[in-house]
Amino acid sequence: MERTDINTLLEKTEAWILPELENIFDEKEREDVTVKAAMYSLMAGGKRLRPLMMHLTSEMLNADADKEADIKYFAATLEMLHTYSLIHDDLPGLDNDELRRGKPTCHMVYGEGIAILAGDLLLNKAMERMFAICEKNPGYIHASSMMAENAGIRGMLGGQSIDIASEDKEISLELLTELQEKKTGAFIEAAIVTPYYLYKNMTREESASDETAKDLRKLAYHIGLAFQIKDDILDVTSSSEVLGKSTGKDERDSKATFVTHLGLDGAKGRLDEEIKSIKTILDKLSASGFDTTDYETLTDFLVNRDR
Ligand code: IPE
Ligand code: IPE
Ligand code: MG
Ligand code: MG
Ligand code: MG
Repeated sequence: MERTDINTLLEKTEAWILPELENIFDEKEREDVTVKAAMYSLMAGGKRLRPLMMHLTSEMLNADADKEADIKYFAATLEMLHTYSLIHDDLPGLDNDELRRGKPTCHMVYGEGIAILAGDLLLNKAMERMFAICEKNPGYIHASSMMAENAGIRGMLGGQSIDIASEDKEISLELLTELQEKKTGAFIEAAIVTPYYLYKNMTREESASDETAKDLRKLAYHIGLAFQIKDDILDVTSSSEVLGKSTGKDERDSKATFVTHLGLDGAKGRLDEEIKSIKTILDKLSASGFDTTDYETLTDFLVNRDR
């Protein structure tokens, strides 16, 4: 396949997902202030990397138009879960940030109480959407329960819990890896693996022994780590104008990150290792007949991105 550059891939993803995001709430619901706050954060931009990953897996599987519509539905649902995690991550009780996606954070505009509710709303609406689609297609239950689980204590929320509890503490590299794997890796796993479960109408037991499912989970693990290591690096090397969020705060808040733990060069070295692992898995998928060209473009972006 011919190479498409990353900016084109990102623009195409935005065009793909935007109509789905715009229509999550109906006209009457949109009059509510909590819905307005949730929509403010959801539409504030962002790279839409998780929807992109869902689209890439979907394309790699040559999913038909019907399946693709359902995958888009799940991609929007995951973007809602991700945005909820960002709204809460920025709250004064967590990271206390004033800038997100190049705009004032949700609580800066709507106040803390409404921002808490806006996060809760996106989480709740995401669950409603997954129940609703499972009523129509019971085969989607496995993908849905995986997404729900990856948002919870075994996933993003569990990682955030370790993150907050580790402030001002020295933690082991093992716990740091678990923290990052959960807070960031869990949603990336949901993005990369969900389309495969949807496509195959696969049960949990089947996926445990399925070779492609195993490869996709491994790919997600390394992409998740690479993504968060780079996030930690950008906190030190980038500026808030370029990044669209505050910088230099991890050190100031004594956060456990790959940079505070390994130093900048150590973190870069670890990022290189993760990229090597990603490339090995992509080579294997490619040898099995999957077109991994766009995933390779995404891999380069994981290293070179400045936002
Ligand atoms: C930020 O994620 C939070 C982390 C998991 C590091 P992104 O960098 O994907 O944020 P947006 O969606 O582009 O704003
Ligand atoms: C948060 O990690 C990941 C989430 C679950 C939201 P960070 O706290 O490092 O994310 P940023 O740097 O604020 O985007
Ligand atoms: Mg945080
Ligand atoms: Mg943060
Ligand atoms: Mg960060």
